[in-house]
Amino acid sequence: MGNIRISPSILSADFARLGAEIEALDKAGADLIHVDVMDGHYVPNITIGPPIVKALRPHTKKPFDVHLMIAPVDPFLDAFAEAGADGITVHPEAGPHIHRTLQRIRDLKKKPGIVLNPGTPIDHIDPVLDLVDLVLIMTVNPGFGGQSFITSQLKKIEAAAERIAKTGRSIALEVDGGINKTTAKQVISAGADTIVAGTAVFRGGPQCYAANIAALRG
Ligand code: DX5
Ligand code: ZN
Repeated sequence: MGNIRISPSILSADFARLGAEIEALDKAGADLIHVDVMDGHYVPNITIGPPIVKALRPHTKKPFDVHLMIAPVDPFLDAFAEAGADGITVHPEAGPHIHRTLQRIRDLKKKPGIVLNPGTPIDHIDPVLDLVDLVLIMTVNPGFGGQSFITSQLKKIEAAAERIAKTGRSIALEVDGGINKTTAKQVISAGADTIVAGTAVFRGGPQCYAANIAALRG
């Protein structure tokens, strides 16, 4: 199973004090910082853009795990790379040519990731697995924090783990949505090694972040 990495989603942070929130997550043991970017078009919510990512960059050395829920996605890849993203994860539905999009992220010297919605079949990763450093399986429909975990996605996590193992390459298997102590255990036993959590990390305020993060490691 190895080490489980926790990537807190700042969607649940106090947006009025984001810099301090990032510093608190860093101190609390977060391995990555998950940045949910939404455009009110690909998903029914609007969050943050490249200027905020850039403003947050000096507040931690932890990698920024940037999840783009925007369409079309291609015109914004360079801006997020320049703003300080380390990983850039994209939905195959968010542009006409997923292979080209992932290749562009690689060319920008960032870690390319592909993300599958609950209704998107696992097969979508097959033609591009050689191009990615991360596969993200959504266990809620994207757009909002605080939704309930969709249990049927556990099979997809297992299928992704098998396909990743066959490549012999090191590809992270991340899960996002509805993660708490109980569902974290389930996704870890299905093969996930990287866990995104918003609600479960931020519950109780900054003095609880370290314990909340530790509780998700299984
Ligand atoms: C949903 C986002 C998630 C979400 C997770 O579109 O991608 O990262 O914020 O939040 P919780 O952990 O509250 O389900
Ligand atoms: Zn996300």
